[in-house]
Amino acid sequence: MSTYEARFKVWRGDQDGGGLKDFRVEVNDGEVVLDIIHRLQSTQAPDLAVRWNCKAGKCGSCSAEINGRPRLMCMTRMSVFGRDDTITVTPLRTFPVVRDLVTDVGFNYAKAREVPAFVPPRDVGPGEYRMMQEDVDRPQEFRKCIECFLCQDTCHVVRDHEENKTAFAGPRFLMRVAELDMHPLDAAADSGLDRKTAAQEEHGLGYCNITKCCTEVCPEGIRITDNALIPMKERAADRKYDPLVWLGSKIRRRSSS
Ligand code: SF4
Ligand code: SF4
Ligand code: FES
Repeated sequence: MSTYEARFKVWRGDQDGGGLKDFRVEVNDGEVVLDIIHRLQSTQAPDLAVRWNCKAGKCGSCSAEINGRPRLMCMTRMSVFGRDDTITVTPLRTFPVVRDLVTDVGFNYAKAREVPAFVPPRDVGPGEYRMMQEDVDRPQEFRKCIECFLCQDTCHVVRDHEENKTAFAGPRFLMRVAELDMHPLDAAADSGLDRKTAAQEEHGLGYCNITKCCTEVCPEGIRITDNALIPMKERAADRKYDPLVWLGSKIRRRSSS
């Protein structure tokens, strides 16, 4: 087994400010960045705050920025860096710092609550739902989401733009809206909820300019932009420019005046 000493810079501080602190720390074969952060805790920085749970890329808790790139610390092998590299670990930039590497990701939970849930069809009982296999397969990809919020962190619409947070749900939750809109049994429209209009007007779909940065950082390899956001944009645009929808809205407006 080979061992070496790596150079690390780890952000330490809280909401009042902080900065990068230098460390030299032992690295062994097969280790990931989270192992090194744990070694720092057990040897040199016992009060270093870090959030983690599974160490298996499944709980989505250990999100951070490693050399400026949003990543899971438990899924980032030390072997991807050179032995002479200095590795910088900083908290997610888009969310407020609580302490050290821990951020307050409450923004995401607030956005999750703003997406109305699946509406079951009225005339079909539980256990009687029937769907085409392709309609089952499509949202299956989105369901792999582990809610690490790396996509939310990297999206330039809210990264460094606090002012956009009220109007923009972010890729993870626009994907959720798209998933529900694609669901053939979702009966939201029967209760007056048009998910396409809501995507534009309530969740800020128009802010997304399909740069695909969210897709690039997703540890589950979900093709957020290609399979959720772009189709959602197409469906919302079709709806807006559908002549029948346009005529219907004119008639509705005339009869209500
Ligand atoms: S594709 Fe859209 S949601 Fe994803 S990072 Fe770019 S602007 Fe944000
Ligand atoms: S879509 Fe991917 S990057 Fe975004 S929260 Fe889910 S797993 Fe994380
Ligand atoms: S500790 Fe669970 S995803 Fe990293």
